[in-house]
Amino acid sequence: MTNRSNAENDELTRVAKETLRANDRGGYTVPSPQLYPYQWLWDSGFIALGWAAFDEERAWRELEVLFSAQWANGMVPHLIFHRESTGYFPGPDVWRAPGPIPSSGITQPPVLATVVRRLLERAGSSLDAERRARYLYPKLLAFHRWFVRARDPERGGLYAIVHPWESGLDNSPIWDTALARAPRLPVAELRHDTGHVAAEQRPRAEEYERYLGLVALFRDLDYEPEAVFERSPFKVASVSFNAILQRANLDLLALAEHLAPDDTAEIGGWVERGATALEGLWDEASSFYLSRDLVSGDAIAVRAFEGFMPLFAGSASAAQADSLAATARRWGQQVHYLMPSSDPGAPGFEPRRYWRGPVWLNVNWMLADGFSRYGHDDLAQRLRSDGIRLATDAGMWEYFDPNT
Ligand code: DGY
Repeated sequence: MTNRSNAENDELTRVAKETLRANDRGGYTVPSPQLYPYQWLWDSGFIALGWAAFDEERAWRELEVLFSAQWANGMVPHLIFHRESTGYFPGPDVWRAPGPIPSSGITQPPVLATVVRRLLERAGSSLDAERRARYLYPKLLAFHRWFVRARDPERGGLYAIVHPWESGLDNSPIWDTALARAPRLPVAELRHDTGHVAAEQRPRAEEYERYLGLVALFRDLDYEPEAVFERSPFKVASVSFNAILQRANLDLLALAEHLAPDDTAEIGGWVERGATALEGLWDEASSFYLSRDLVSGDAIAVRAFEGFMPLFAGSASAAQADSLAATARRWGQQVHYLMPSSDPGAPGFEPRRYWRGPVWLNVNWMLADGFSRYGHDDLAQRLRSDGIRLATDAGMWEYFDPNT
């Protein structure tokens, strides 16, 4: 936090705490009161890090409540309807999922093992933290085992997502071609999101129809993982999803070394396979990591922030990291604030449309970690200070225009 007064920092911290408290629904935190009035998986992971800064007990609780929705097969759903709320579509009546608590039937980036490791380490020798990590550990392991069975049945080391919402990057241009194969369900008059946020910032009508077409398909398949994997017309090995899972497996391994040494061989095997598979997404011609369409088998030639994400997983080489850093510095000259969610020089760049251009602070957090791990401290510092400037000057928003 260079060049900022203590008063500015105190004020930012005060507003951040106030935002968490205002969105606290008693054990879980809604990402926003109107647009997102339930609990979301990866949001809660990052939110727990926020709580941990001033209320450790509440941070653990966020994760425990999240895991109360874990399915018997190990999957943790991306969206949990703890109690009824209006103003969101698609709600529990649309999903009709089989978990212990009404939920969606798909998952989201598994940042949770990374978060648990951080909470445990920052707690030092606290017995309570140790107890809570021990409680969560088998649930994390079951979740990661589910990924192996359900999303990498041939054990190649790359995990598939079957819906753009599973990536967390809903309408990123990366998904366009694969999503075009999904069936359309007319839902224009059912959408609530465009009542809360300007339509120009949200996914387009056609994308939404296909999002819901996939939901209907999975529901008709009773969310049976093998059938979903077989039949989904949208099946992508996303760089960012795989990098987050690779990092989570590394963090799970570190937890297992401490909590359950018998599991280390199994988790170590996933880590090894994952690192090699992630490297297979490197595109030599463009010196960038590209997601792969697992239906067509093609690399998806769309450059988005996720191409930097193997740095967060630590699987890239030093030479690859240098080349990625050069690209990130170029992007940084094209916008005022890093990191735009897609290539600011690409023709389809839309600085205000959700994941087609805006800056997201969780992305800055992961990429700052990645660039600093590889010694590119200038970029790590810029990612942090741009994020702080955005939150200070504009407020606690979901995403930000990288130019204004
Ligand atoms: C939405 O409804 O926009 C969510 O991002 C889905 O997870």
